[in-house]
Amino acid sequence: MDEFSLENKVAVITGGAGAIGSATAHLLAKRGARVLLADVNREAAESIARHVQGAAIEADLSSPVDCQKVIRVCVEKFGKLDLLINNVGICPRRSILDSSEEDWDKIVGINQKSMFFCSQAAIPELRKTKGRIISVASYAGRAGAAVDACIYSGTKGAIIAMTKAMARELAPEILVNAVAPGPVESDLVRGVSPERLQQISASIPLQRLARPEEVAASIAFLASPAASYLTGMTLDVNGGWCMT
Ligand SMILES: NC(=O)c1ccc[n+]([C@@H]2O[C@H](COP(=O)([O-])OP(=O)(O)OC[C@H]3O[C@@H](n4cnc5c(N)ncnc54)[C@H](O)[C@@H]3O)[C@@H](O)[C@H]2O)c1
Repeated sequence: MDEFSLENKVAVITGGAGAIGSATAHLLAKRGARVLLADVNREAAESIARHVQGAAIEADLSSPVDCQKVIRVCVEKFGKLDLLINNVGICPRRSILDSSEEDWDKIVGINQKSMFFCSQAAIPELRKTKGRIISVASYAGRAGAAVDACIYSGTKGAIIAMTKAMARELAPEILVNAVAPGPVESDLVRGVSPERLQQISASIPLQRLARPEEVAASIAFLASPAASYLTGMTLDVNGGWCMT
């Protein structure tokens, strides 16, 4: 048996229309999985779903009701759920002094609350399939982002901690892991100036940002039979930038 095959698996990918989400959809589909992309951007999600012969659903994942809807639709369409990829996230750049309560609610709602409530909605289905939860944290949750992203860093640290708590509570049926990317070539780093991005690249031992496909490869590994004895861990995908 191919230790990396995802044949006959069904995956939900939140934020599936974005850089890392779409790269993950392509790789999981290539390895044999059927994927449901959940995103607030329906048009983009549908276009990617067509390419990977999957399905798309419009959802605001900061709403627990929409998290429930996504899991329900997945089971209606594909009959089960094996893999929940909690990938959705935003990173508005604001200094601490410029950040408002509205910023807090929005960033925590999309990054952290969605991870909890999508997981909660998925657990009954994942128990049936001995499935997995894989969440996308960030180096910022390990080390704190250097550029105007304090609230974001907090949500990513929370994802790392909740991954451990879920792994303990849901063992042995459901494996729960995360990846913590460093800066990735994507819209999310678009708010950072080119000079700063160059500085960042120069300070990464591998001398460049990650490609979304490289983050997807780690997610696909954690989803695969090869990762059957891993739970509660966060895999750093950061070119050696932040060694923990
Ligand atoms: N890009 C990076 O440098 C980087 C680094 C570390 C971690 N990450 C994390 O990786 C994940 C994916 O990031 P990305 O770079 O692919 O971002 P992206 O902006 O390309 O994609 C995010 C997707 O989430 C969707 N989205 C936003 N709000 C939503 C909501 N309320 N409900 C549903 N969907 C919503 C967007 O439409 C978009 O398709 C995020 O959790 C991010 O924090 C990214």
